[in-house]
Amino acid sequence: MDRIRIRGGNRLNGRIEISGAKNAALPLMIASLLSEETLTLHRVPRLADVRMLQRILQNHGVDITVAGKRPGQNGHHGETMRLNAKSIVDTTAPYELVSKMRASFWVLAPLIARCGEAKVSLPGGCAIGTRPVDLHILALEKLGAQVTIEGGYVIARAPKGLIGGNIDFAKVSVGATHAALLGAVTAHGDTIITNAAREPEIGDVADCLVKMGARIEGIGTSTLRITGVPRLTGAEHTVIPDRIETGTYAMATAMAGGDVLLAGARPDTLETVTAVLKQAGVDLRATNEGLRVMRNGAGIEPVNVETQPYPGFPTDLQAQFMALMCGAKGTSVIRETIFENRFMHVQELARLGADIHLHGDSAEVRGTGKLTGAQVMATDLRASVSLVIAGLAAEGETMLHRVYHLDRGFETLEEKLVACGAEVERVVGQ
Ligand code: UD1
Repeated sequence: MDRIRIRGGNRLNGRIEISGAKNAALPLMIASLLSEETLTLHRVPRLADVRMLQRILQNHGVDITVAGKRPGQNGHHGETMRLNAKSIVDTTAPYELVSKMRASFWVLAPLIARCGEAKVSLPGGCAIGTRPVDLHILALEKLGAQVTIEGGYVIARAPKGLIGGNIDFAKVSVGATHAALLGAVTAHGDTIITNAAREPEIGDVADCLVKMGARIEGIGTSTLRITGVPRLTGAEHTVIPDRIETGTYAMATAMAGGDVLLAGARPDTLETVTAVLKQAGVDLRATNEGLRVMRNGAGIEPVNVETQPYPGFPTDLQAQFMALMCGAKGTSVIRETIFENRFMHVQELARLGADIHLHGDSAEVRGTGKLTGAQVMATDLRASVSLVIAGLAAEGETMLHRVYHLDRGFETLEEKLVACGAEVERVVGQ
């Protein structure tokens, strides 16, 4: 297994190109199941999760071609992917594939919409909580599907097709909102989704569905009104820039000090995060090219945060922010309200000298101002990058094990950091 070696202490200076958002690219790829025509996606990030979903979609019969890199193009420009689901050959998504990545469960809704039946294994993914699928099932039942769970599989049937309905979510869920949307766009009649998640990635998928001929109102709000259409066409769409990657490199720059332009970033998709970082004493400026992040000399101020659905502070940046707060001049409290088990990075950060105390869903982080390198282990996708951030500021060498978690969600991470002066290197496993 690969490892990443980080020698801390260097400031970050330069430019980092922000990749396409993983959490938009995955449901966009899945949306291809809804049409017989080709969906062309640009700026799809080169990630292990994207490769995994490719395999899952190919298993259903989707024909996928990936355009090669153009000369002079770097890995972080992503790739152009053409997905054609002219004929769906299999409506089962098996355990061996779905258990590796939670988002692959999301094929359920478009498969029923298109074929009237689907059998999808209960999901896996990052071990960050129980992550049930009751809201996904509720959404599909409201659209007229009959759903049962047998032998670890969700089996859904709607032989006469899905029908529009009112879906009122008791809890905000990104995945269940995607399911409701993907199910409703080709259902017979109208659907109203209330208490929908408002994450920009959902807006991106909705925008793409509109290009494919879907009729959706209220994009970007918590009420989505959909008028079902009989079929969707092909379309061409560019994946939005990754706000979680943007926030991650903003925090890395804040932690290490320096001046970095996050090129192509969309600051309007992470306003809560930039406000929090400004409170922490980081200088951030939206520019024509993206987001410029600077911290020169001044120390980091402690700031309390609580994770919330968008537009609140994202749970996917909680671990990275905790790493930053380890370097603050005082004590901060970070409360995780979305996933109950998302503090696995705490014990690894402690190996680097962090002083963190857990009280239920809150972590009290006593900034030490000084971390020291150590051997640490990645436990999930976002937790692993928090260890990289801490390692950038730690004295001496940090060795991060189980790097495959990072490869699931960060495109060319070492390359991007090295270009800004960090000493980061991948040690390829035997
Ligand atoms: C998505 C993101 C993930 C992010 C999360 C929250 C992708 C591929 N993944 O995950 O990176 O951390 O949103 O922003 O976009 N829940 C239920 N029942 C359900 C579904 C969810 O109770 O049927 C609960 C979950 O346990 C959790 C909360 O709802 O407590 C939010 O989860 P959800 O928004 O669904 O997360 P995902 O879509 O899995």
